[in-house]
Amino acid sequence: MNTVPTQHQRVLSGMRPTGRLHLGHYHGVLKNWVNLQHEYECFFFAADWHALTTHYEDPSLIESSTWEMVIDWLAAGISPGAAKIFIQSKVPEHAELHTLLSMITPLGWLERVPTYKDQQEKLKEKDLATYGFLGYPLLQSADILVYKAGMVPVGEDQVAHVELTREVARRFNHLYGREPGFEEKAEQAVAKMGKKNARMFRECRKKYQEGGDQDSLDVAQALLDSQQNISIGDKERLFGYLEGSGKIILPEPKSLLTPASKMPGLDGQKMSKSYGNTIALRDEPDEISKKIRTMPTDTNRVRRTDPGDPAKCPVWQFHEVYSDEDTKDWVQEGCRSAGIGCVDCKQPVIDAVLVELKPIQERAREYEEDMGTVKAIVESGNEAARDVARDTLEEVRKAMGIAYL
Ligand code: TRP
Ligand code: SF4
Repeated sequence: MNTVPTQHQRVLSGMRPTGRLHLGHYHGVLKNWVNLQHEYECFFFAADWHALTTHYEDPSLIESSTWEMVIDWLAAGISPGAAKIFIQSKVPEHAELHTLLSMITPLGWLERVPTYKDQQEKLKEKDLATYGFLGYPLLQSADILVYKAGMVPVGEDQVAHVELTREVARRFNHLYGREPGFEEKAEQAVAKMGKKNARMFRECRKKYQEGGDQDSLDVAQALLDSQQNISIGDKERLFGYLEGSGKIILPEPKSLLTPASKMPGLDGQKMSKSYGNTIALRDEPDEISKKIRTMPTDTNRVRRTDPGDPAKCPVWQFHEVYSDEDTKDWVQEGCRSAGIGCVDCKQPVIDAVLVELKPIQERAREYEEDMGTVKAIVESGNEAARDVARDTLEEVRKAMGIAYL
């Protein structure tokens, strides 16, 4: 069910504040966000409440981690002119929607989320038998639905959360989209489109509802979307009317699966702070050179004269990210024939990482020295987010019978 044409969809994604970001974040997430921001209306936020669901015992780092993370976002090229950057807890509507959605969410839906048991197992040293931890995927649903986001860029591990969000939205619309007089209101709205468009809309609706014709659905949705003189409320009614449901108050989002990053850690495992194998975006160039120079290589190359196999070497994985075909051929040839040494082999990687990080580090330094600007960017992001969130909550309260107008 796709109720808003793609190009008009809002993109929303969040990241837990864990402090300074590394190349894994850059290649896995940030580059993708930077591309999206020019194509869509984007909302990116620091998920500080989410951090508290697992780090409630140690709140001392959340604020500083949030600022460090935002600096890295900006340094990586997230543009405040193109995307809204904000902090989750500064938009309390997320929490209000979470509470309201909790009324209609069966416990089983949350217990069944794969990360629930997994994370409890993984983080055994923490007591995660909390209400907040069980509810955190629903908090994520509220994060998404409060902006009526159509697309949510996430990694594989988060797809189940977007699925849950779709189910919750469907249930919400089913329960509360059936306002009194829905059909009459919908028909009145159809009439407002003008004779020709109204006829086209009715034909498409019939074809879709009677024969499941997807093209007709697409045509009618595009037609609806292009209407200038019907209100947003009427549009939401008509999107639902078209598909045979009630009014669609909370549209179902889709996950935009971010391809798994090829960027490995220094030891060839996934790059992650907890493995101590990262290159941070703001590591000093000397430190970066040293980290790469001391990277492990194919253990069979004990002496310079021993041939090696790039397939067994994490440095090769870096070449796969950073090097052109000629360089890669040079590595393959030179490694297998012991024609080059590992020190030689690592140099182009060092150079490429430094070149990539130079502009990022320069921007980061400017922001570090001007925290006032960083805070102002986030403050205006908070406000922009709140404006959207407030409107959604008004509708949601109305639908749930607690608007008190
Ligand atoms: N749960 C996500 C993570 O741990 C972060 C997140 C919170 C998020 N709310 C979101 C991602 C909403 C996308 C949309 O990575
Ligand atoms: Fe790894 Fe390069 Fe050394 Fe081969 S030559 S083992 S690919 S660092």
